[in-house]
Formats: sequence, C-alpha cells, structure tokens
Amino acid sequence: MSTTPNTQASNQPAATAALSCKISARQHDAPASPPGKRPAPPCTLVIFGAGGDLTRRLLMPALYNLAVDGLLDGGMKIVGVNHGERETSEWSEDLHKSLQQFAADKASTFHAGKLDDAAWNWVAQRLEYMAGEFETDDTFTKLRQKLAQTPGGNVIFYLAVGARFFRPIVEHLGNAGLLKENDGKSSGKSSGKSGGGFRRLVIEKPFGTDLASARDLNAHILSYANESQVYRIDHFLGKDTVQSILAVRFANAMFEPVWRREYIDNVQITAAETLGVEGRGTFYEQTGAFRDMVPNHLFQLLGMVAMEPPNSFDAEAVRDKKAEILDAIRPLAPDDVVFGQYEKGPAGIGYREEPDVAPGSTTETYVAARVLVENWRWAGVPFYLRTGKRLAMRRTEISVQLKPVPFRLFRDTPVSALTPNVLTLRIDPAHGQTFDFNVKTPGPVMQVGGVQSSFDYADFFTERANVGYETLLYDCMLGDETLFQRADSIETSWCAVDDVLHPKGGGALPVHGYAAGSEGPAQANTLLARDGHAWRPLKADTVQKK
Ligand code: BG6
Repeated sequence: MSTTPNTQASNQPAATAALSCKISARQHDAPASPPGKRPAPPCTLVIFGAGGDLTRRLLMPALYNLAVDGLLDGGMKIVGVNHGERETSEWSEDLHKSLQQFAADKASTFHAGKLDDAAWNWVAQRLEYMAGEFETDDTFTKLRQKLAQTPGGNVIFYLAVGARFFRPIVEHLGNAGLLKENDGKSSGKSSGKSGGGFRRLVIEKPFGTDLASARDLNAHILSYANESQVYRIDHFLGKDTVQSILAVRFANAMFEPVWRREYIDNVQITAAETLGVEGRGTFYEQTGAFRDMVPNHLFQLLGMVAMEPPNSFDAEAVRDKKAEILDAIRPLAPDDVVFGQYEKGPAGIGYREEPDVAPGSTTETYVAARVLVENWRWAGVPFYLRTGKRLAMRRTEISVQLKPVPFRLFRDTPVSALTPNVLTLRIDPAHGQTFDFNVKTPGPVMQVGGVQSSFDYADFFTERANVGYETLLYDCMLGDETLFQRADSIETSWCAVDDVLHPKGGGALPVHGYAAGSEGPAQANTLLARDGHAWRPLKADTVQKK
C-alpha cells in the first residue's frame, strides 16, 4: 500500500527537535512519488493456472488496468503455465474475449464500457503460454531455461491454482533453484523495493484448512523461500474501501478519540452475499463458510478496525499492529458461533440441491460469530461477525455502534428511544460511509429524531472499473508487503478458530436452516440477544428517509 510522504503538521512545536529528526528520517523511507505515478520495476510474472478462472476474471483485468494507468514497465513479461498444449495466440484470444465480455457486462466490477485496444495490445505482446504439469520436473526445467533469458531476473511466481498444488509447485521451484535471488543465497532475502533479481511467490487462499495444516504449509514454503519473498493474498485487502478504514481512523481527529471501549458499544462486521455457491459445490463442500470467510477476510476487517495506530506506514509497522490484534482475539468457543445452511426459499433452491453437493450435506453456508478482543482498548466490546450465501442482500460493511448518551435530557425522548450513533463503513457493493445520529425534528415541540448522513465515493472521486487485484499486483512488483499476510498472522488467525473447527470432545456444530433470500437463521439473532444486542437489518437502513 504505497503512501505519499507524511506531511508534518505546520504547527509542530519547535522544542521537539529530537522527535522532528525521527519524523524526517521516516519521511525518507516513504516512496518519493505519489501513488499511481511510479511504474513498477521490470519483471516476469509467471502465472501457474493460466487457464483458470482467477487468471481470466481477476489477474488479467487487473494487469490490463495497470497497463492503462502506465504502471507496468516496458520490460514486463507474463508467462502463463498450464497443463495442455496451446499456442500463445489462443490463450491471448481467450483472455481478450473474456475481457471484452467483462467490460461490456454492467454487473461486472470490471465494467469499463469498451476496452482500450492500445492497452490490451500492450499486454498481449507480453504474453507467453507454456504448457506444463504443476508437479513434474520437466515443467520447471523448461521454466528455468525460459527465465534465464529474462533481463534483470526479477520474477514473481503467482500460484493461481488449487491449494493442493501449493506444496509441489513451491518444492519444484525451490529444487530448480528458481527461488534464488541474485545475491546467490539459496533462499536469499528479498532484494528490496525495486532492486534487481528478486524472486517472489504469491499464494492465494485457502492457506491451510486449520492451524496444523497452515503451520505445515508455512514451514514447507519457508524451507524454500524467505518470509520476505512470500506474498499471501487476502483479496479483501486489495479493496480501496478496506484500505480506507485506516485512512478514516488515522487521518481524522474525530474518530480516534472515541474508538475505544469507553464509547463503543459493539461492532458488527457483515459480508452478506445473494449468490449461492455458483458451481463451486465441490470446493464449498470441503470448505464451508467458516473456513472460507472467517479466519481470513472477516478477521482482516476486524484487524483494520481494531488495530492500534502503527508508528508509520512501513509494511512491518502495520503488520506488527495487525498481528498484535489478531493475537488478542479470544479463541472462539463453539457457543460463540452459529452455523446455518440455506434451504429452498424466495431466492431459489436450497444448498443441498446445488450441483456437486451431497443430498444430506451439513456444510455451513452461513456463520455468525461473537468475537472478543482481549486488550486494553477493546475489553468487553463484542465484535459480531456474520457472513453467508443466498442472503437477502449483498452487503459487506462494518458498523461501529457507539454507547448511548448517559442521561435523559429530552423529556419526551428517553435515552433508550434515541437512534444509536452508528458509523457504517461500506465496503461493497456500496462504497462509502454513513453515520446515524439524532437531531431536533421540525416543529414547535422539542423532539428528537434519527437521521443519517452519508458519503459515497462516486460523489467525490472518479471510480475506475477495477477488480481489486490492481493494488495487490502492483505492490508485489514494488516489494511492498503491507497488504499481504505474514506467516505468524495466518497462524494466529487459525489458532483463534481451532476450537470451533475441532471442538473438544469431538462432534460438530449444529447447522440451522434458513430460507434462501432471508436474513439468516433465527439462532444468529439469539447469539446477539444474549448480550442485549441485535443485528442491523440487511434489507434496509435502520434510519429511514421520509
Ligand atoms: C472468496 C470466497 O474468497 O471471497 C467466496 O471464496 C466469496 O466464497 C468471496 O464469495 C467474496 O468476495 P467479494 O470480494 O466478492 O466480497
């Protein structure tokens, strides 16, 4: 996450000379140019899984967008590895067709109207297809020969493949010497932000299926590469609205003073989807909503909301604070969690009727969880997390609800009847923020009523069609790891959910039915009712306009 240099406040007291020195030293560390202006260093991007959905839907559109913005170096190459012989021209045509479809599709996040032919041609000229199995030596011998001709030697290996291929690909890359950086060490430290000869590995989720498997995978990868070479992706962190959580918190004087247990009553983090499993039945049967969303996407959002301010925007400063907060999550107990599964309802068929799903499946498609963060700032403030497929609305958002005012000042309006102050950070599909608060209602009598003020990104900025991978790819090329997950954080997150995945005494959590198109299972309401709280409705805002 590139940042512009800090601008030191002009009213900095003159007496703080030592402090000023420290601050100006940090200013030098920040990138000199504003974000979006510096092309990434030349590199070869090797995509394992060139024929897959991720490459077609997300990586290529993101590379195209980076090309449109002039953020890729002329020396860039994109080598696509996949099983099955194909000509580069065939691969390129397929990608082009998909891009054209996405660009024309109003429902796609890539909806751009029309492709810029010059930008596409720029990308197309740099594509090269290489047939190869992901688990055979021959593929990596061929790849080594190809990369030997790469000027500069900077290579990013992107593992856009099923998780079962992570281990063999890393092992083969390591054994073929392809993870050696040009300092000659077998798993040398990453060569710095833009230095030559870097070798980086990008790994998608799911990163393990529980604590033991994530540890094992980390150990395996780190026996072939250094931590600084590994870029573990959580695509939520590529969203501007997610990155903006830190901007809202740390670039505004009004939020941070109340951002603590004395003022905050509860935090609700929602990732509700209207889609079902969309042909991913086989994957979903083994994964379920909990593993798919909670220890990764939802914990990352929690981390952004709850972390302490870092001392700077250096990757390690930010990631240390994030690691600290994940470590402060009290391990979830089975009764902190509610599982649900969609059944036939107004929005369509039930999960068990989906293709590749067992007729008696007990896989959860919905999760609600009550999470406590055990540290000084958040003691006693519940963080409620929920996510699910086939719900009433698509909404990814974070609602921070403040405590009520302490005293009944308005005779006709008891404190309990006031609209709670809620700051909602809207991540998707709406991009913006709302704030619920109270004002005097018009008329001769002093009465108080709830209103909502809102900010929408589109009202202030020109939002470009983007797929959320642009920043992640660009940052990886620059060597900026801020938005990527470190090994320790991945393990800490899995550790916090291990008792839910493997309940002591065996067994599994009950899975409650909910109608497709509803707000989720009733038991999720009971989870909050225990604390005297309620979910914010998915379908409508709590404060209504006239
Ligand atoms: C993915 C999950 O990681 O995130 C999907 O595997 C889920 O099941 C998706 O639908 C949600 O991401 P987004 O960006 O569409 O909200």
